Amino acid sequence: MRAAFSILTAFSAMSKNTQKKKARPRAAWSGRFAEPVAERVQRYTASVAFDQRLAEHDIRGSLAHARMLAACAVISKRDLAAIESGMRTILAELRGGKFKWSLASEDVHLNIERRLTALAGDAGKRLHTARSRNDQVATDVRLWLRDAIDAISVQLAALQASLLGQAEHHAGTVMPGFTHLQVAQPVTFGHHLMAYFEMFARDRERLADCRKRVNRLPLGAAALAGTSYPIDRDMVAQALGFDGVCANSLDAVSDRDFAIEFCAAAALIMTHISRLSEELVLWMSPRYGFIRLPDRFCTGSSIMPQKKNPDVPELARGKTGRVAGHLMALLMLMKAQPLAYNKDNQEDKEPLFDSVDTVSDTLAIFTDMVAGIEVDADAMRAAALEGHSTATDLADYLVKKGLPFRDAHEAVARAVRAADARGCDLATLGLDELRQFSPLVGADVFKVLTLEGSLASRNHVGGTAPARVRAAVKQAHRRLKA
Ligand code: ARG
Repeated sequence: MRAAFSILTAFSAMSKNTQKKKARPRAAWSGRFAEPVAERVQRYTASVAFDQRLAEHDIRGSLAHARMLAACAVISKRDLAAIESGMRTILAELRGGKFKWSLASEDVHLNIERRLTALAGDAGKRLHTARSRNDQVATDVRLWLRDAIDAISVQLAALQASLLGQAEHHAGTVMPGFTHLQVAQPVTFGHHLMAYFEMFARDRERLADCRKRVNRLPLGAAALAGTSYPIDRDMVAQALGFDGVCANSLDAVSDRDFAIEFCAAAALIMTHISRLSEELVLWMSPRYGFIRLPDRFCTGSSIMPQKKNPDVPELARGKTGRVAGHLMALLMLMKAQPLAYNKDNQEDKEPLFDSVDTVSDTLAIFTDMVAGIEVDADAMRAAALEGHSTATDLADYLVKKGLPFRDAHEAVARAVRAADARGCDLATLGLDELRQFSPLVGADVFKVLTLEGSLASRNHVGGTAPARVRAAVKQAHRRLKA
């Protein structure tokens, strides 16, 4: 989308300059029209400024279609050879930045067809037999999105690997766990990071599931009703690596639910990123002082010389709104559209492309940034000792000695009040003081009242005991490789 705006402006400047001098080229479909489309309308309806990034997938789809047409004797072998050779030239032009895009040709499909016809003559004109731009564009978007999903899955795994590296290193680093942003119970930093590992694992599962529905071939649906030519859709599906064909031609050209699903998965990825971002911002604020981010991920202030700001996580938090907005845009695009293809669907591309770009850029930066997190273990420990974070452990201790939980809760609450009055943490009260609140307290209380005791006691699958975190990391390595 970024580059698209400038291309559009360039097109508009170009067409204004040439407007008076020579008549604009006529559109591929202009045969039944009495006058050329108004220039403003041409610019309004064209998609080439943004859909040109589908070019290589368009060519892949066209080649598979042409090979099938030749195999089914709808076009000749010679036509196929001319199409293949023309497409090779076009691919080279595209990759060399030499391909000339034209607004008059409206979209990526007609631009490539126009060039192919210039290179291959009538063979180029025969390529569109048994096909419509409606099934063509649906195919291109699916092919493109499939590649994007695969790339993003790899990026998610890389971010997970960064999290694992840190979690392994900090499996025993104690920090306060929060609820309501108030110190709740001690956890390890490794355990906390592994929570994000799980979120991104589910994000990858969602993408893999979405990919199944993306990976169906629309080609053969033609404009909406199928085609009267003897085509072989399975052959095209196989050539393009689709799992099968879309079973209904009307549905094939009209629904974009696969793109909506992807945007929902992308919005969730960004939502998870935004939670991590928020925590990074808090943790590196001097009030917390839990972590430092390397300077290459921070920026300064133009007025306050002392500042080092967490711009990257803040921006990622902001971009989450943008991606969630794209999901909403696509839902509204699809809402109440009658069957089958409508031009509304041309609007699917910019939100989809921008979602992919934003998620991809964000994941790449976060992978490096997470690996670069430097932890101030003393600050984390000091904070864990500030909020009576082992109060639940003391209550559990009393319960295990026979006190009903509600009474234990009450006894510990009074101990907390006393500690507060003295300006110290519950974990630092002496045995005599503790016994004032319950005669059940013995010397063994310190095994659970200390931060380390509290952590070690949460020793079950999914718990924060350092040994469990190490086991979870080990298992996670295996999951990543699977
Ligand atoms: N550029 C169009 C799109 O993105 C291609 C399909 C055009 N089909 C049509 N009947 N006008 O949706």
